[in-house]
Amino acid sequence: MKFIEKGTVIKNENIAPNIYDLSIRLPKIAKEAACGQFVEVYPDNGTNLLPRPISICETNGDSLRLVFQVVGSGTRLFSGLKSGDGVRVLGPCGNGYPLTNAKSFILAGGGVGVPPLLETAKRLKKLGNVNVYLGFRSHPFLTEDFEKIGIVPHIATDDGSVGFKGNVTELMKSENVQADIIYACGPKIMLKSVSEYGEEKNIPVYVSMEERMACGIGACVGCAVKIKKDNGFENKKVCKDGPVFDSREVLWE
Ligand SMILES: Cc1cc2nc3c(=O)[nH]c(=O)nc-3n(C[C@H](O)[C@H](O)[C@H](O)COP(=O)(O)OP(=O)(O)OC[C@H]3O[C@@H](n4cnc5c(N)ncnc54)[C@H](O)[C@@H]3O)c2cc1C
Ligand code: FES
Repeated sequence: MKFIEKGTVIKNENIAPNIYDLSIRLPKIAKEAACGQFVEVYPDNGTNLLPRPISICETNGDSLRLVFQVVGSGTRLFSGLKSGDGVRVLGPCGNGYPLTNAKSFILAGGGVGVPPLLETAKRLKKLGNVNVYLGFRSHPFLTEDFEKIGIVPHIATDDGSVGFKGNVTELMKSENVQADIIYACGPKIMLKSVSEYGEEKNIPVYVSMEERMACGIGACVGCAVKIKKDNGFENKKVCKDGPVFDSREVLWE
């Protein structure tokens, strides 16, 4: 069940270059939220900007934590939110990661695909062994938050400034990592390579596709993703049918 809820900003901090850590009191949405789901945040500044999808990084009692990168007008507006400000949010949206009866998990995240993996790691830790692989261009963030829940993440940076020099899949390959299931979130190119890694090792991979969205409610084709069907494909919508898909079903291009 989705709600539009008027939340109150608890805090909003700049935690890395262009990356903000926003906590909003949203009791109804927080109570319902599952890992891998997202919310639509409304930029209420008098313009007609559409709501922006942001993954749920953490649920903490009656609040949600969102971690986002400033890339354009909507996220720039969110970066200016201050404690006490009101903000309209629709959620929880999307299907989230399926929780199976697997016992060992790899979480693989790249850039702004890392935030939803924190709540996912918290929940999976109760079910089995969790290993976390995170890739960044240059400035890691949220790594201490994984440590706080007892998981030391394996870090890769493109420039080698922290951890392994290279991308997250190269890091996973270098360690020949194994698990019952992989959950991944990040840019499409990374999701494709993690999916190939899973296929090679015979490990199912669930990918969260943070495609560009428009309406966010299934009414346009702004977020279409190609899903294999018979000898061809069908378009599915990230906002309505996703954002999580079984990587074996995705037609990677
Ligand atoms: C399900 C889902 C979950 C998401 N979770 C997060 C999250 O947790 N943290 C986070 O930082 N971002 C997340 N995003 C991406 C975020 O929604 C966009 O960055 C945001 O909507 C951009 O809005 P804007 O108004 O600031 O930028 P716009 O003015 O709309 O766009 C500015 C630039 O960013 C590009 N852009 C916009 N959206 C995306 C996108 N989805 N992927 C790649 N490039 C894009 C545009 O092409 C343009 O070049 C998520 C997206 C989806 C679909
Ligand atoms: S954003 Fe319009 S259908 Fe998904």
